[in-house]
Amino acid sequence: MRFASKKNCVTLKDGIIIKEHSDKEALLREAAALERLRSAGLAVPALLGQDATSLRLEYIQGPTYVELVDEMTAQQAQALADWLGAYQSITGLLRGDCNLRNFLWCNGKCVGVDFEDKPTRGDREVDMGKILAFAVTYEPALTEAKRACGRLVLQAMLQTGGDLARIRSAYLDEIASMNRRRKHFDVKAEEAASFFDAL
Ligand SMILES: Nc1ncnc2c1ncn2[C@@H]1O[C@H](COP(=O)(O)OP(=O)(O)O)[C@@H](O)[C@H]1O
Ligand SMILES: [Mg+2]
Repeated sequence: MRFASKKNCVTLKDGIIIKEHSDKEALLREAAALERLRSAGLAVPALLGQDATSLRLEYIQGPTYVELVDEMTAQQAQALADWLGAYQSITGLLRGDCNLRNFLWCNGKCVGVDFEDKPTRGDREVDMGKILAFAVTYEPALTEAKRACGRLVLQAMLQTGGDLARIRSAYLDEIASMNRRRKHFDVKAEEAASFFDAL
């Protein structure tokens, strides 16, 4: 079984995930991050082995959060916000790649995957705004189901100590960035802003 991946090749073979990296630095960064986060108690896949081009990872069985956005529960939203808060506390850094394919729902827990990018510094609300922007713009974007999902995720994030105005601003920045980088993406800034304000 092969998973959706833009840069790498991620497959499930004999019950183990094989992530073949196209970039050596990224592979080393991801291996180190997985070990550090796991030893700090964060829910991430166990690193089972590595060679020059690939990582062998524990298979986390369950849907990604992309598959949950149209029927998100309060428990799932809280688990996502809590995972993010724990990641930020452990590393003192931003998660960065907040697309919801990097969060899996397994045994009543949120598990994070994909640590190849260099983490950056910044306000914790930057990650929160990005997660919200992703959550409400998967196709079909800005529906009632996305509103319900966005509301639960926002509430959960506010409970972990996020500031509403900063989350809003980061969310709008990410929507603008999506408009720049995606060809067939067309969510207007005003539409995204009023959607957020009605959450
Ligand atoms: N340990 C894992 N267990 C289950 N699924 C995984 C695991 N690691 C990755 N995946 C799946 O493979 C996809 C791509 O892996 P990811 O590490 O995010 O690579 P990429 O850098 O290509 O985004 C993920 O979105 C997820 O669906
Ligand atoms: Mg990924």
